[in-house]
Amino acid sequence: MNFKRLMKLAAPAAALLIALPANAADGEAVYNKTCKMCHGSGMMGAPKTGDSAAWADRIAKGEETLYHNAINGIGKMKPKGGKKSLTDEEVKAAVDYMVAQSK
Ligand code: HEC
Repeated sequence: MNFKRLMKLAAPAAALLIALPANAADGEAVYNKTCKMCHGSGMMGAPKTGDSAAWADRIAKGEETLYHNAINGIGKMKPKGGKKSLTDEEVKAAVDYMVAQSK
């Protein structure tokens, strides 16, 4: 195979890699997998996603506080919702997703 032909094959793959930000965490996916269990139903007193009244005071604290508490735990919620393998970025993305749904 000559070089020109190889480049023709490689270009679409390279374009795809550039289109996908390398490690942008998927907040919705993390939420559905780990956080929904409590925040979908309000289990254990968790503020329910989509319940803007339950979230108003929390959102008012600022996103840095929400990130901090989601990563380190708050009340009955364990750090990272109990899933230690999540990165801080994944937890933050899930917080962003929950907050966006609950304004
Ligand atoms: C086992 C149940 C449970 C799971 C799983 C869970 N949470 Fe929570 N979460 C809670 C409870 C209960 C509270 C309320 C804590 C309090 O204010 O005492 C809470 C509160 C929060 C808050 C508000 C913090 C604040 O400062 O007011 C955020 C943000 C949050 N959770 C994010 C997440 C994210 C992101 C995940 C998934 C990675 C997650 N939670 C998974 C139970 C859970």
